[in-house]
Amino acid sequence: MSRLIDSYNRPIDYLRISVTDRCNLRCVYCMPAEGIPLSESENILRYEELLRIADIAVRHGITKIRLTGGEPLVRKGIVEFIEKLAKLKGLEDLSLTTNGVLLKEFAFQLKKAGLNRINVSIDSLKPDRFYKITRGDFLNKVMEGLEESEKVGLSPVKINCVVIKGFNEDEILDFALLTKKKPYHIRFIEYMPFEVEEGWQKEKCISTSELVGIINKFQELIPLGNQEKRTGPARRYKFKDGLGEIGFISPISDHFCGSCNRLRLTSDGKLRTCLFSDEEIDIKGALRSGCSDKELEDILFNAVRKKPEKHFINDNIFKKCSRTMSFIGG
Ligand code: GTP
Ligand code: 5AD
Ligand code: SF4
Repeated sequence: MSRLIDSYNRPIDYLRISVTDRCNLRCVYCMPAEGIPLSESENILRYEELLRIADIAVRHGITKIRLTGGEPLVRKGIVEFIEKLAKLKGLEDLSLTTNGVLLKEFAFQLKKAGLNRINVSIDSLKPDRFYKITRGDFLNKVMEGLEESEKVGLSPVKINCVVIKGFNEDEILDFALLTKKKPYHIRFIEYMPFEVEEGWQKEKCISTSELVGIINKFQELIPLGNQEKRTGPARRYKFKDGLGEIGFISPISDHFCGSCNRLRLTSDGKLRTCLFSDEEIDIKGALRSGCSDKELEDILFNAVRKKPEKHFINDNIFKKCSRTMSFIGG
């Protein structure tokens, strides 16, 4: 069976599916306080439709699937959907990105349904600041969700932390130190420009090298994996006495486009070949007009062929991405 490979010879084996644009938080860099106009529910792909696309994708070389949102755990029937996805032959890795608010009550069922691992977004370990960023008073619940995930064997438990200068960079060490007590993998992510963030400025981004410098001053970071040859977006490290890992995702200062293996599906049925390209390929229309599997396959292959070589955040031609993360899912 032919495999999905793009025009720059990158094998595409990772599909990220946003299952909903709804969310129970309103992170400042993602949504305005009043929320954003939500899609009518008939515009959101049904689980059967998602499963059909995933099945075809897996038959053509996708081995990893991540479910994202909005907040995937607010969509009804998510556990049953995961159970079906997990049965796809050839799928090796099934993960989910969540804000963690509902994680404590879902962790066990998610694991049982076949989910392998989880990423939880936490940008501050201080309750008042967590509230300021997410507009929700849920830090305790989220931390309990982490504990529960570890307990039920979702592994690894990763924490996504977006670092914004003047806002949370003073907590970097606290996050890093968590990896001494817990087997968590912390991912520090550079702040990226999306349309909703009127306040985004390059000056608010902190580069990975700055962050590594700050942590190294406290204790040496030991590099993990091959730092030269990228195998994923993160540069990974650990403390000598660490139980977990510390990773840095640097889409701005050190982009990883050359090794990008990702294809994204938005909750309203559009394929996005790059987080930052506004070019989207509609797949919902075809699905709903009764197309054949071969036609869906062609849409997937066409989309992959159009995948851009890299993003242009650092070039003058760059404009902010006009969709919010709540549609694309990160
Ligand atoms: P995997 O183990 O490969 O799934 O990676 P991960 O656990 O580090 O998580 P993930 O891939 O979800 O990356 C975390 C965050 O990094 C995302 O939520 C995005 O904010 C950012 N990110 C991930 N992939 C990309 C990408 O292709 N381009 C850009 N610009 N940012 C990305
Ligand atoms: N820059 C970097 N990361 C972002 N995320 C959302 N918006 C941004 C941004 N502007 C991250 C969230 C979440 C994931 C889905 O994407 O922190 O972990
Ligand atoms: Fe919700 Fe995630 Fe957006 Fe925060 S970043 S508002 S948790 S979708």
